Amino acid sequence: MVRDKILILDDEQIVIDAITKHLSKYDYSIYSGMNGKEGLELYHKVNPILIILDLRMPVMDGVEFLRKIKLTPADPCSVIVLTGHGSDDDMERCFELGISAFLRKPFNIYELLGMVTHSIALKKVELDLKAELIQRAKMEEELRSYRDHLEELVETRTAELQKEIVERTNAEKLAMRSLKDKEVLLREIHHRVKNNLQIVSSLLELQTKYIKDPETLEMFKDSQNRLKTMALLHEKLYQSDNMADIDFAKYLTNLLDHLYRSYCVDTSRIFMNTDIENATIGLDTAVPCGLIINELVSNSLKHAFKGGQRGRLSVSLHKFDDGRFKLTVSDTGIGLPEGIDLKNSKTLGLRLVNALTVEQLEGTLEFNSNNGASFWIVFKELKYGKRGTND
Ligand SMILES: Nc1ncnc2c1ncn2[C@@H]1O[C@H](COP(=O)(O)OP(=O)(O)OP(=O)(O)O)[C@@H](O)[C@H]1O
Ligand SMILES: [Mg+2]
Repeated sequence: MVRDKILILDDEQIVIDAITKHLSKYDYSIYSGMNGKEGLELYHKVNPILIILDLRMPVMDGVEFLRKIKLTPADPCSVIVLTGHGSDDDMERCFELGISAFLRKPFNIYELLGMVTHSIALKKVELDLKAELIQRAKMEEELRSYRDHLEELVETRTAELQKEIVERTNAEKLAMRSLKDKEVLLREIHHRVKNNLQIVSSLLELQTKYIKDPETLEMFKDSQNRLKTMALLHEKLYQSDNMADIDFAKYLTNLLDHLYRSYCVDTSRIFMNTDIENATIGLDTAVPCGLIINELVSNSLKHAFKGGQRGRLSVSLHKFDDGRFKLTVSDTGIGLPEGIDLKNSKTLGLRLVNALTVEQLEGTLEFNSNNGASFWIVFKELKYGKRGTND
């Protein structure tokens, strides 16, 4: 442990010796000088915590010494003046110069020892307090600079984020605009596909003028209906909100209307019974589904009710919870011919129904012929990209 250093400045060696003798019993390092000049050198060299100072000394007296060392309240050193001649004026001046105690000679050594202990203890408390204050000021400064830095960081990050938001908003606007453009384009494409299908249908219509054979005429009409079935889908698509899903109930109503008109059938003769679940279906599924319905409904209208016979045609579409659909087309007509084989039928219609169900929809087809003809098709909606390579 570093000992406390005490500097004794007195021109009487006997005084220095007497004080040193008593102080050496304690844990102090003692230094001494005979005048202010020596004292100054020692003061700067050893940095004492306490100076015991005589006033009247040769070369440089105590008051001059005090002026030179310029004691301040924050000084790490305190001074006890010990003088034989000190007047009250001297005492006043010394206190003005920052001393902490004034003792006159002849003095009581124990009184001086008490003052020494007291002054050193007081100085240490002062020094500790000062160190603590410095430490606190330093911490406050660090905190302040940290806070300033933090504010700076927050400001920078906020600015970055604002920039990011602006950039993202602009990008979103651009993407929205391009999406809108593509939507318009897609709508236009569906419109044109529909128009082109109608043109092909009109061409067929024109050709029918030169056909005399009723069977061939029928074939042309069926083909026109198939085209119409697909054209209607594209029409529904460009009228839909998202251009991907078709409102199937609306589509079917239009398709059935068209077929009744096309075969000049009155709903008062063949009553139309529809039960179509409110479902939207994508184009990939809607095309085969529409074509199947076209074939089955056309068949009912063409073959089931001969000679103006009355009856009922039912079309229903239900969606199961697992996402599968069940399409039913049935009529109360004369029923299917015996031993009919959908796969190997010589005619196109039912073969098409079978092929579209199995190959395009990857579904199952069942039929029976009790009290008319009934067909059930169960299928799942095709997801984009799941289609075969041959379509
Ligand atoms: N709902 C039905 N009621 C009675 N007979 C039917 C019915 N559906 C089909 N048929 C009979 O089955 C046959 C085969 O039908 P299919 O649809 O394959 O041929 P199509 O209607 O004659 O001609 P297309 O190839 O133009 O459709 C029909 O000719 C008809 O005799
Ligand atoms: Mg047919």
